[in-house]
Amino acid sequence: MSAPHTPSRVRLHHLAGMKERHEPITMLTCYDAITARIFDAAAIDMLLVGDSFGNTLLGYGSTIKVSLDEMVMATGAVSRGTQRAFIVADLPFGSYEASPSDAVSSSVKLIKAGAHAVKLEGGVRQKETIEAITGAGIPVVGHIGFTPQSEHRLGGPRVQGRGDDAETALIDDAVAVQDGGASCVVLEMVPQHLAEKITKILHIPTIGIGAGYHCDGQVLVWTDMAGMTNWAPSFSRKFGAVGAALQDAAASYAESVKARQFPDDSHSF
Ligand code: KIV
Repeated sequence: MSAPHTPSRVRLHHLAGMKERHEPITMLTCYDAITARIFDAAAIDMLLVGDSFGNTLLGYGSTIKVSLDEMVMATGAVSRGTQRAFIVADLPFGSYEASPSDAVSSSVKLIKAGAHAVKLEGGVRQKETIEAITGAGIPVVGHIGFTPQSEHRLGGPRVQGRGDDAETALIDDAVAVQDGGASCVVLEMVPQHLAEKITKILHIPTIGIGAGYHCDGQVLVWTDMAGMTNWAPSFSRKFGAVGAALQDAAASYAESVKARQFPDDSHSF
């Protein structure tokens, strides 16, 4: 494998090159400027302003309630904190389903806020919409497999593409997303052998979450990755214990204030 490439700004052709060279693409969700600066310094290739913002930071308990205005605000913040990463912003539920022209105008708002591409959920049923958005000059990232905005139809977070018919349908979805003009596709909660098959069929990169190690790249929700909470999905992994470290710092601050140890003379004017 050749040495990892480190462009000053990651662009679509770099991502395509990574697929060609079998160099894994890294992606994390991100919702604010301070975290974006940290992930940019860690050379994460792609930052996803995901509508998981609703679950993780806004406390909605689902992605469904997230509004386009909230996504625009978070996208602007991530863009202001980023110099290197390729930024993808989620089109939230309700901002693109009614018509391709709705999808284009919602996408324009996210691109004006600083996204380099928009992501939407669905395969075959979204082909026309993907064509309309890419036709307006806006790169699209598809998202198939388990699609959280359809959680009620899918019966909650479940592995998709199990069984021959479901497998064929998921391959059709992947090909439709690519044929519609998407530049990448996220595969969520897909059996590993199927993610491998799709990754071989497509010429655009696949980014997996709960889809095994054959995908061209991986994405995790950053709060799961960093260990901000006790619970995380079984396909995720905690690469840190940031939640516990933050709790320790807050408890230590509170203890110092209560004991009148902070501020002391060195922190006063
Ligand atoms: O919103 C999000 O975080 C996502 C990832 C699960 C891919 O769409």
